[in-house]
Amino acid sequence: MFNEERRFEQPIRWAMVGGGRGSQIGYAHRSAAQRDGLFRLVAGAFDLDPQRCRDFGTNLGVDADRCYAGYKEMFEAEAGRADGIQAVSIATPNSTHYEICKAALTAGLHVVCEKPITFTTEEAEELKTLAAEKGRVIGVMYGYSGFPMVQQAREMVQRGDLGEIRVINMQFAHGFHNEEYEKNDPGLKWRVSPQASGPTYVLGDIGTHVFFLGEMITGLEVERLSCMRQSFIPSRAPLEDNAHVMMQFKGGAVGTLWASAVNAGSMHQQKIRIVGSKASIEWWDEYPNQLRYEIQGEPARVLERGMNYLYQDAAGVSANRIGGGHAEGFFESWANLYHRFALAFDAANRDDQATLGELWFPGIDAGIEGVRLCEKCVESADQNAAWVEYK
Ligand code: NAI
Repeated sequence: MFNEERRFEQPIRWAMVGGGRGSQIGYAHRSAAQRDGLFRLVAGAFDLDPQRCRDFGTNLGVDADRCYAGYKEMFEAEAGRADGIQAVSIATPNSTHYEICKAALTAGLHVVCEKPITFTTEEAEELKTLAAEKGRVIGVMYGYSGFPMVQQAREMVQRGDLGEIRVINMQFAHGFHNEEYEKNDPGLKWRVSPQASGPTYVLGDIGTHVFFLGEMITGLEVERLSCMRQSFIPSRAPLEDNAHVMMQFKGGAVGTLWASAVNAGSMHQQKIRIVGSKASIEWWDEYPNQLRYEIQGEPARVLERGMNYLYQDAAGVSANRIGGGHAEGFFESWANLYHRFALAFDAANRDDQATLGELWFPGIDAGIEGVRLCEKCVESADQNAAWVEYK
């Protein structure tokens, strides 16, 4: 059973940019990062509004003089302190990720960045180069990839339990934005504006999540894709609130991805089905403790988290926090990822390349591929869903 016993001496001194009061995802970062005592929140530029930042930060227990009006000021001031920050998480709207991430790496910080990490693959590649030069690590918050049953799925595919992979069916299609709610919702308003959101809405916002699950579970690379996208709420154009993508993978597998915010009545419907020559698996984020395993010619099975028949991942980081039967969820998945980020940051600090090489976590390459997915989908959709080469 996995627990919070200390993995290294002192918690990583950690800050956030964004994630302020009222933000959608700030609490998830703080809760996950601090869950196992590996990070301690000591500073932040949490909000666009400096007064609200200070008020909020001090309520979280951060010293008032370490609640900053902006990220530049924070990186500069913290660099001058003996107890300055060592890592930062970036949970701001998409348009700001590149600049903030670049500034953080330049300041010598490890980074956890929200997705999509940049608007273009060139920018993302630049961040990768900068991180390598500085010996720093970038983690990307594909938060669903920390679920133990997703790790189990990955292990099953890698061990050949499914046979040769033929079809990957991916969808993340919720119904929360079936009407023009952005009129009264600032968090949705920026998502449907190209200036803040980037070249896509649902493809980047949610499509990248399930796409990453497909990539990490199967290890397959896209060769070509064709994308059709549209906005059923006309004011969202040119950004899409619905998209369908067809994919061909290197080696012969094929797949589809449906990303939507107008799937009326649906909560999340983030599902992935992987079909092999012998068997198929299916995982649904609304029932994350279960993984369907269907062997051709046999009754379907439901594998349950926390059982001895599952594979254990090598680092032991995605094992159970509580035994089977109790429900683990979203926060545990995120905490599993932050735990991995902490181990990676610590390994980088010690220049422990062996640990860094063995440790699985969604890093900069995962971030780059998410951005590439968005770019290529736009390229295809702009040519009437023409097939485009992926790389
Ligand atoms: P939001 O609009 O709810 O909150 C953004 C927060 O950032 C606010 O507190 C705002 O004051 C602050 N902020 C904006 N610009 C800033 C700046 N330059 N400096 C400091 N603070 C700034 O946004 P939300 O929904 O929390 O999304 C933030 C990011 O997280 C986005 O990139 C989004 O795609 C991503 N996200 C990821 C999820 C995941 O599952 N990994 C889930 C939800 C969002």
